[in-house]
Amino acid sequence: MHDLLTGVFFWIALGVCLIGMLARFIMYFRGLSWQLDRVAYTSHPAAGVKGAVRSIYKWLIPFGTYGWRTQPFIAVAFFGFHIGAVLLPFFLLGHTLFLKEKLGISFISLNATVADGLAWAAVISAFFLVLRRLVLPEVRIMTTLQDYFILLISIAPFATGLLARYEIGNYSFWLNMHIFCGELLLIAIPFTKLSHVFLFFASRAQLGMDFGIKRGGMKGTKMAW
Ligand code: HEM
Ligand code: HEM
Repeated sequence: MHDLLTGVFFWIALGVCLIGMLARFIMYFRGLSWQLDRVAYTSHPAAGVKGAVRSIYKWLIPFGTYGWRTQPFIAVAFFGFHIGAVLLPFFLLGHTLFLKEKLGISFISLNATVADGLAWAAVISAFFLVLRRLVLPEVRIMTTLQDYFILLISIAPFATGLLARYEIGNYSFWLNMHIFCGELLLIAIPFTKLSHVFLFFASRAQLGMDFGIKRGGMKGTKMAW
């Protein structure tokens, strides 16, 4: 089972994720229409690029946007989860060894205490993300089963990774479960809202351009719109 999960299944999961996301990117950009979106994509490239970059980096900084600042508690939970979700897959020692062996790419490895801290922070934060969907009426009204499913498959690699790491019960069982859950997550990325892992950058750039050009970004200039 371990050989299968770390062999052919790993390649399938990685392939589905990368090829699927390439297709999603192409679909995203082909679907853009300045008439329908009412975004002046090409008219003022300098102001557009400035707005796009600004929007991306502001959203990546905790409390960088008005949206994050209005809900500080939720912002902490989002960042508490995402810092681990982005750093651990690449920089956890168990992962760097695996990636070196499979892909020949060497990443620096996180110190074990830091990695444990990020993993725990992610699990605890994820608990509050679930609670947010259950408790806040304005979020609950828009929540579908898919949202809970996404949270579940996002949390599963952390929960199983920690069970393996602390060798609770049968180590090889939890390690195999962990790898299975990690691969499930990779496969789900192109087909669900988890595509935001990549498409976040595209949609923020799109909105940032709109704000950088006509929604105030070029205020005071002679732009005709
Ligand atoms: C898809 C292939 C994956 C493989 C082959 C893999 C492999 C491993 C290995 C070998 C360990 C070390 C277990 C030990 O300590 O003995 C581990 C731990 C862990 N992994 Fe993964 N993993 C994968 C995906 C993921 C993903 C997608 C995530 C998160 C989004 C993740 C998060 C973790 C966490 C949180 C731990 C425990 C961290 C700690 O040491 O405190 N893994 N993984
Ligand atoms: C570069 C990488 C990533 C970026 C920039 C990013 C950004 C975001 C943003 C902006 C949100 C929405 C916040 C809101 O509703 O206002 C979000 C939600 C979410 N992200 Fe990510 N994310 C990334 C990677 C990941 C990864 C790797 C995972 C899974 C392991 C993940 C799982 C989630 C989940 C489950 C939610 C939704 C929580 C909920 O609303 O119930 N994200 N992300």
